[in-house]
Amino acid sequence: MAELKIRRLGYALGAEVTGVDLRQPLDDGTVAALREAWMEHLVLVLPGQDITPEQHVAFSRRFGQLDPNDATPYYRHPEHPEVLVVSNKPVNGKPSETRNTGRNWHSDLSYTGRPAMGSLLLCKERPDVGGDTMFANQYLAYETLSPRMRAFIDSLEAVHDVTLVKGIEQRSPELVAEIKRINPPIAHPVVRIHPESGRAALFVSQRVRHFVGLSDEESEPILRFLTRHAVRDEFVYRHRWTVNDLVMWDNRATMHVALADFDQSKPRHMLRCSIQGEPLGYVYQGDDSAAAAKPEATHRSVVASVS
Ligand code: SIN
Repeated sequence: MAELKIRRLGYALGAEVTGVDLRQPLDDGTVAALREAWMEHLVLVLPGQDITPEQHVAFSRRFGQLDPNDATPYYRHPEHPEVLVVSNKPVNGKPSETRNTGRNWHSDLSYTGRPAMGSLLLCKERPDVGGDTMFANQYLAYETLSPRMRAFIDSLEAVHDVTLVKGIEQRSPELVAEIKRINPPIAHPVVRIHPESGRAALFVSQRVRHFVGLSDEESEPILRFLTRHAVRDEFVYRHRWTVNDLVMWDNRATMHVALADFDQSKPRHMLRCSIQGEPLGYVYQGDDSAAAAKPEATHRSVVASVS
C-alpha cells in the first residue's frame, strides 16, 4: 500500500496528496485511503501526475462508473469518450467550443437527471498566470444558514437550466439547440443528503432559474441570497494549477468555477473524467402542481431513498 502524505490546503476544503503514482495500478488499500481523504477534504490535489488518457480513465474508474458524457457528446476526447476535453486551443482552425467551460459557479452535470458524483480534472497546459479554479464547501454553506432558512429550503426544489451555463451563447446556434434538446430543465432538491457522510449540503448554483412552486419574482431574492452565501470566502479554496496536477472533487458537497483570469490567447488544456452520480430529480415541465400538492414533503427523505 502506498504511503500517502496528506497536507491541508484550505480552511474549508482541499488537501494535497503525495506519495502516489497514478501511472501504476493501485492496490485496494491505497484506493480506500484516497477515498477516505477525498470524502474528508472534498477536493484532493495530486501533483506531478504525468499520465496518459488511459491511465486517467483507469484511475477514475476506481471510484465508480464513469459518466459517458452523453450530456455533452461534442466535447469528448476523440479516442477516449469518457474523457471530456476542456480547452481553449482552436479545433480545426475554429475557436474551441469549451474555451469558456465552467465560468459560473456550478456542480458538474446538475442540469441533467444524473448529476456527477465526482470529477477528476488533469491539467496538461496552463497559462503563465491565472486560469485558476475555485471550489466551495456546500456542507458549510448549508450548516451556516439560520434554522428558519434551513427549514424553509429543506422542502424546496430548484430548476436547473443548461441555458444558464455562462458563455453558452458563444457556442454555435446549432450546438446550443442540440444542447437544449439533450438537456431539458431539471428540478432537483435544494438540499441533498450526502449518501456517504449523511450530511446535508446546499445544492443551488448560478445555473438555477427558479424554485418549483415559487414565481420568478419570489425566487429571485432567495436565489440571489443563497448563491452568494454558498460561495462566501470562508467556504472557498482557490487552486492555482501546475501542469500534471490531477484535482478530484466531490460534486455532491461542493461547487466550483473556472476563472477567466488569464490571457485567453495562451493555451489552457484540461482533461476531465466524471464519475456517474445517482439518478436525481425530474424533467421540469413548467407545471408546479406536483409541488403544490405535497408542500410538506421534504427532500431529505426523497434524497435518502434515492441514494
Ligand atoms: C469544469 O467546470 O469542470 C472545468 C473546470 C476548469 O476548467 O477549471
